[in-house]
Amino acid sequence: MKLLIMGRPGAGKGTQAVNIREYYNIPHISTGDMFRAAIKNQTKLGLEAKSYMDQGALVPDEVTIGIVKQRLLEDDCKKGFLLDGFPRTIAQAEALDAFLNENGIHLDAVLDVNVQAEILVRRMVGRRVCKTCGATYHVEFNAPKKDGICDNCGSALIQRADDTEETAKNRLTVYDNNTAPLLAYYNKQGILKTVNGDQPVEKVFNDIKVVLGE
Ligand code: AP5
Ligand code: MG
Repeated sequence: MKLLIMGRPGAGKGTQAVNIREYYNIPHISTGDMFRAAIKNQTKLGLEAKSYMDQGALVPDEVTIGIVKQRLLEDDCKKGFLLDGFPRTIAQAEALDAFLNENGIHLDAVLDVNVQAEILVRRMVGRRVCKTCGATYHVEFNAPKKDGICDNCGSALIQRADDTEETAKNRLTVYDNNTAPLLAYYNKQGILKTVNGDQPVEKVFNDIKVVLGE
C-alpha cells in the first residue's frame, strides 16, 4: 500500500495512521513528527522548523520536500508507505509526483479524513501526546486511564506547542489557503477517497478499510 492521508489539522490523521501502519504493515511518515523530533534534538532543521510551526505557518517547501524524498528512499518504504501531513501545497504535490514518476512508484489512494472546521480547535486544544512513545489522547474524547499518564508506556503526557487556541485557528486558515486545493488535484487523478472523520475512531478506521477495498 502506498498511501497519503490528508485532512484538516486535528482531523485524526495521526490517530488513524497508527491503525493503518499496523494493519497494512507500512511505515508511517509524518512530516510534523519529523520536525518535532528535529526540534527535540535541537538540529539545524529543528531550529528552522520551530520558527514556522510555533505560528502555525508552513515550513518552506524546499526544506520539506528534501526530507520527504530522502525518507522515501529508505529501504523500509519499498513495501509501501503512509505519508501524513505531506504534501501540503501544490508545489509539494508536484514535487512528489515527479519523484514518484522517476522511481516508478504509483500511489494506491489519497485518504481525506473529512471533519468540519468548527470542532477541530477543541480537538487540538484538548490533545495530549506521550513524550516517549508518541501515543495520542484527548482530555475529553479519548482520555487516558490515569490523568496525564500514557496507557501504553506510563510516561508523562504533554501538550504540543502549536495546540494553543490561537495557533490552532491559524493552522486551519493555512489549511484552507494552501492545502485544501490538493483535494481537487488528487480527485482529478481519480485516487481521492473521502471518509467521514466525525465518528468514533474505530468507525473511521473501518470506513478507511472499506474505501481501500477490504
Ligand atoms: P502536523 O503535525 O502534520 O499537524 P496538523 O496537520 O496540524 O495535524 P495534527 O497532527 O494537529 O492533527 P491530526 O489530523 O494528526 O489529528 P490527531 O490524530 O492527532 O503539522 C504540524 C506543523 O508542522 C504544521 O503546522 C507546519 O508548521 C509543519 N509541517 C508539517 N508538515 C508540513 C509540510 N508538509 N509542509 C510544511 N510544513 C509542514 O487527532 C487530534 C485530536 O483529536 C487528538 O487529541 C485525538 O485523540 C482526537 N481525535 C482523533 N480522532 C478522533 C475522533 N474520531 N473523534 C474524537 N476525537 C478524535
Ligand atoms: Mg498529526
